[in-house]
Amino acid sequence: MTELQKPLAPKNAFSANRLIGVDDLSDAEIYYLLDLAEYYAGFVDRSEPAPQILTGKTQINLFFEDSTRTNLSFELAGKKLGTDVINVPVAASSLHKGESLVDTARTLAAMGADVMVVRAKEEGLHEQLSKILDCAIVNGGAGALEHPTQALLDAATITMEVGPLKDKTIAICGDVKHSRVASSDAQLFTRLGATVRFVGPAALMPSSNEFPDVERFKSLATGLDNADIAMGLRMQFERMADTDKIREAAKDYFNEFGLTHETMKHAKSGAKVMHPGPMNRGVEICGNLADDRSVSLIEKQVFYGVAIRMAVLDALSAKE
Ligand code: CP
Repeated sequence: MTELQKPLAPKNAFSANRLIGVDDLSDAEIYYLLDLAEYYAGFVDRSEPAPQILTGKTQINLFFEDSTRTNLSFELAGKKLGTDVINVPVAASSLHKGESLVDTARTLAAMGADVMVVRAKEEGLHEQLSKILDCAIVNGGAGALEHPTQALLDAATITMEVGPLKDKTIAICGDVKHSRVASSDAQLFTRLGATVRFVGPAALMPSSNEFPDVERFKSLATGLDNADIAMGLRMQFERMADTDKIREAAKDYFNEFGLTHETMKHAKSGAKVMHPGPMNRGVEICGNLADDRSVSLIEKQVFYGVAIRMAVLDALSAKE
């Protein structure tokens, strides 16, 4: 077994004590987190315990929107590093007696939180909390705006399973308009030197003045041409106005935009498919493709999700 070397943090890194958007990170901090995730990945898939660098610290996971991967991988990441983790049972909390989101967060911070991981759809909530609370604030998903730790884990997955992002072509396919993952991925992948494309119907594209560095394509044949990675996105029915009509249209959508073994033939030979999850099988991706480990990195994304969240918790809450 090779000795794992922990990378050194860049000078004055993470002094803002928050990770709300990709813009919060300098290039040096991004590369450090990717290196640190590689180091921690060695502790996710072996029985040797990780260094207990967060013993005595308190991490609070406050998820006002549903989550499986983000919430539970942050819990596992914190526990692996020795921190006390509390998952707030939002459905049974005093929010239902009229307490505001901010007062809920203030109350939890007063219990001695060192880091709070927050998922919420309310615009500006994470910014507000980072101004009024002393603990580190990590964005676990903000409406359709940002999901920075998903972008970091996606970048870690590509780096470790395919190679550095520089000069890779990554096609982000489907419901880009409602996707915080697409937004954070596009920003981070571009920063790392990749060419990013959005592929999908015009109705699911963000407005034309957003993402000026990203090329847009209206078909998989053109959008996947010579791509190294196809990133499928969940059709976010819950963020759409006329859900019934759109669910009906989703049947045709798969025929035109569904990622399958057949449509992946448009991409570079050996190209990989990714998806942040949860998936709508038979809507944006075929189950057979998602489950084919020779092409699909979807389970790897979940694996590196634990490692990248260990890295983020180390970077933000290991400080005195
Ligand atoms: N990818 C992602 O954010 O998944 P969850 O909603 O399950 O956390």
